[in-house]
Amino acid sequence: MPSGKTVWPRLARPIMLVPALALLALAALAGCQGSPSALNPQSPQAGSISTLAWTLFFIALPVFLLVEALLLFTVLRFRNRRGAEEPPQIEGNRRVEILWTAAPGVVLLIVLWVTFQTMAFVLESPPESMQVQVIGHRYWWEVKYPSGNFTTANEIHVPVGQTVRVDLTSIDVIHSFWVPELSGKVDMIPGHQNHAVFRALNVGTHRGQCAEYCGVDHAYMGFLVFADSPTTFAAWVQNEQQPAAQPTTAAARQGQELFASSACIGCHTVVGTPVRGVIGPDLTHVGSRTTIGANLLPNTPANVARWIADPQQVKPGNAMPNLHLRSDVVDKLAAYLESLK
Ligand code: CUA
Repeated sequence: MPSGKTVWPRLARPIMLVPALALLALAALAGCQGSPSALNPQSPQAGSISTLAWTLFFIALPVFLLVEALLLFTVLRFRNRRGAEEPPQIEGNRRVEILWTAAPGVVLLIVLWVTFQTMAFVLESPPESMQVQVIGHRYWWEVKYPSGNFTTANEIHVPVGQTVRVDLTSIDVIHSFWVPELSGKVDMIPGHQNHAVFRALNVGTHRGQCAEYCGVDHAYMGFLVFADSPTTFAAWVQNEQQPAAQPTTAAARQGQELFASSACIGCHTVVGTPVRGVIGPDLTHVGSRTTIGANLLPNTPANVARWIADPQQVKPGNAMPNLHLRSDVVDKLAAYLESLK
């Protein structure tokens, strides 16, 4: 039998590792404060999910410490030694069996209860909620505002302080709507409607991401949610409801003609013109968006030209083919699209 003196000095070194690991974990968590981060909630709904995560963490922490401590103690205290006799062979202990079956059961029931509470809260949409429809496509987001009767893509605007109900479905495969700072993950299923609810608390921009593997560009299926002040939001809605602006420069005007006479019209819509394709994103106000390619690149004339010239090189696997356009045609098309503010 080893004395306590021989066991504990040997345990001291691994035990001293614990605060070091805890510090490391804290440092890693400190990186979670930016966007997107589920630990930086900006809505009551995301706050409730964050509280649940921390609750589960602090339920799991003592369980983890107790189990690991018992394990370490048992391994060291009762390990085999040279010349030791075979220990007594025992089998089963009803009291212990009942205890270690019931105790996790109780812990898991508590976890289930707090999880159900959170789920009920985050999906509750009061009747005065603003409705937005988001439809998943490989690999972008169609965004409809039924109350304003307009459609946009990949960038969702909401007014601060207003509860928003986002109705979610998909046109092709299962995607998942996730804005960590505003709402939890909700699957977007073809032929079925789910919903997410959030009320943004502060003005800000939040990154969203598809959270269900949907194909080669799954990781590039991002979007942005802009939580605007009510006046900024109203101005945005008013602009979105307008038909497309008429181009004012010569290059943009030529771009408009090229656009209307090319394959672009098979997929895209520009409200206020005869162009009414429904496969790709609505481009009526594409020039006013901050990003292109589902939050892939900043919306600049150079990036739009790069995209039109070879979409497959920019985002391999997306639905837009390389139309092998001449570079002067590409530049005119880009000038036209950028003029659609
Ligand atoms: Cu859409 Cu992953």
